[in-house]
Amino acid sequence: MKNIAIFASGNGTNAERIAKYFAENPNVSVRIILTNNPKAFVIERAKKLNIPAFVFDKDTFFKTDEVLQVLLNKKTDLVVLAGFMWLVPGYLIQAYPGKIINIHPALLPKYGGKGMYGHHVHEAVLKNREKTSGITIHYVNEKYDEGQIILQKEIPVLENDTPDTLASRIHELEYEYYPRVIEELLKNG
Ligand code: GAR
Repeated sequence: MKNIAIFASGNGTNAERIAKYFAENPNVSVRIILTNNPKAFVIERAKKLNIPAFVFDKDTFFKTDEVLQVLLNKKTDLVVLAGFMWLVPGYLIQAYPGKIINIHPALLPKYGGKGMYGHHVHEAVLKNREKTSGITIHYVNEKYDEGQIILQKEIPVLENDTPDTLASRIHELEYEYYPRVIEELLKNG
């Protein structure tokens, strides 16, 4: 059995897709969803999916090892960030070397870094009149969006795209590829 822990800060559509993708798989279990945001809709999704949710604040995350203890208790094999907005502290990266991954809604290294998340990314892509955008799935290190890239998929930016239409096509790509990449990593690790 391989165990996944998902970190999400907001809506949680990726978290839900991942959980549903593995729901019928006897070898993979999404054991817990962790969030820094007590108002995040992902908590409702976790309830519906029958997955426990763990909410933590800044001090707990950055100054205690409570989150690490939760991950260890759940016998976590892979930590999956899906719309998680805080930098991952060094103690977690050291505890799970090469076992924390993230998805970013653009073609890194472009449009990454602090403050570059969700609609901010798509607005910047459109403002710069990029011809393409896409997704990047990458390992997480101690800097925002700089870990080794695992997979990128590109799509054209359309002339009449708005941040919302672009975000929605990017989300479709995320739903298609993130669960598959997770499955592959679990097979090989
Ligand atoms: C996703 O598009 C994800 O790539 C992005 O936040 C969205 C979360 O959507 N992540 C980042 O921007 C990280 N820098 P969701 O909550 O519906 O899964």
